[in-house]
Amino acid sequence: MSAYVIGASKTRFGPTSYGLPHLAQQAIIDALSDAALKPADLRAFIVANFLGGPNEHQLHLSSVIAGLMPGVRVPGWRVEAACASGGVAVHQAVRLLASYDPILVIGVERLSGLPGAELTRNIGMAGDVILDQSQGLNFPATYALVAQQHMQRYHTRIRDLELISLKNHGNAARNPKAHFHHKKVTQADIDAGAMVASPLRLFDCCPVSDGAAAVIISSNPTDARSVPIVGSATYSDVISLAQRADCTTFPAARQAAASAYAEAGILPSDIDLAEVHDCFTIAEIVAMEDLGLAQPGEATELIRAGETDLGGTIPVNVSGGLKAGGHAIGATGVGQIYEAVTQLRGEAGDRQVAHAEHAVTHNVGGVGGTCAVHVLRRPS
Ligand code: COA
Repeated sequence: MSAYVIGASKTRFGPTSYGLPHLAQQAIIDALSDAALKPADLRAFIVANFLGGPNEHQLHLSSVIAGLMPGVRVPGWRVEAACASGGVAVHQAVRLLASYDPILVIGVERLSGLPGAELTRNIGMAGDVILDQSQGLNFPATYALVAQQHMQRYHTRIRDLELISLKNHGNAARNPKAHFHHKKVTQADIDAGAMVASPLRLFDCCPVSDGAAAVIISSNPTDARSVPIVGSATYSDVISLAQRADCTTFPAARQAAASAYAEAGILPSDIDLAEVHDCFTIAEIVAMEDLGLAQPGEATELIRAGETDLGGTIPVNVSGGLKAGGHAIGATGVGQIYEAVTQLRGEAGDRQVAHAEHAVTHNVGGVGGTCAVHVLRRPS
C-alpha cells in the first residue's frame, strides 16, 4: 500500500448555526487549499455521515457534496458506520486508490438543535433495535456498563475517569478547533457535574457537536508535508453488549490494531501519540488497552503517572479527544486523521508532541461494533 494524506482540514467542532452543506464546503475548500489542488483534480470522494436522515431530513449526501463542487463529475459515495463512519471512509479511500487517485474524504455531521431526548434516541440507532433500543439502553448507559465491569475486574477508580477528563479538557484549551477550547475545567466543575448514567457524570461524556473534517489521499506524495498512512484496517463485530461475554475490551479494535500495526511493520511500543475514541472517559482506557499501549487493566497506571499527558511517554488525545475536542459523529474519524497529520507535520503549535514518528488513530462505532485504526508516519 502506498497512501499519503496530501491535504487535511477541520472546522471547529461545536454548536453552530451553519447547515450541513456549509460545514462540508468549508472543510472541502480548506483541504483543497492545503493540498494546492482544484476540485477538478479530484477523481472521487467519500462522504462520512451518521444522522443526516433522522436529524436533518437530508440523505443522498453524495449528491449534496457533488453540488458543492460545481462542474466536477466524479464518483461519490456515502459511508455510514455510526461513530466510526469517518475512519471507515478513510480506510475505503486508501483501498480505492488503485482506481481513483486522488480521492477526497469529507466527514460531516450536525447534531445540535434537536431536543436532547430526540437526539439521544437517534444516536441510539447505532445500537440493536431489539436488544438495546427497545430496552432504553442508550449510549451513556451502555458505556456505564463498560465502566462498571472494568471497575469490578481491574479496580479502575472514578478518580481515573476524572484524570482523563481533566487531561482532555486541558488539551482542548490548547486546540482552537476544540468544542471546549474556551472553557477552563477544574476539579470543582467535575465534582459538580450531574450524574448521567452511574458511574458516568457530565464530565465523563463527550458533548453534542457539529463539524466537518476533510482529507485528500493520494498514492503519490506531493511535497514534504505529505503524510504517509502506513497502516489502515477496519473490523466489525456484534452490535450489542448483550451479545458479548466481555465488556472491557472490543475485539474489533484489537483486530484492527493488529492488522494496522502489521501493515506498518511496527509494534505498539513504536507509537508516539494516539488519538482515540473517548466518547466517554472509560472508552479511553479500553482504547489504550485494545491498541496494546497498555496491558489489560494497566492503562490506569500510565494515566495516574501522567504518561498520557502532553509531554508524557505516550500522549493520548492531545487534541482534547471527543470528550473535550468534540464529537461531530461522521466527522470524528476524519478529524482524528487531521490531528495526526498536523502533529506529524510539526504544525500543532501549543499542543505539539515533540519528535513524533508514528501516530495511531482509533475510531469506534457504537460499543465496538465497528472499529477503524490507522497508523501514520512522519514525512521523511
Ligand atoms: N461535557 C462537559 N460539559 C458539557 C457537556 C459535556 N459532555 N455537555 C454539555 N455541557 C455543558 C454545556 O456547555 C453547558 O454549559 P454552560 O451552562 O456553561 O453553557 C451545560 O453543560 C448545559 O448544556 P446542555 O446542552 O443543556 O447539557 P445536557 O444536559 O443537555 O447534555 C449530555 C449533556 C451529557 C446529556 C450530552 O452532552 C450528551 O448527550 N452527550 C453524549 C452524546 C453522545 O452520546 N454521543 C455519542 C457517543 S457514542
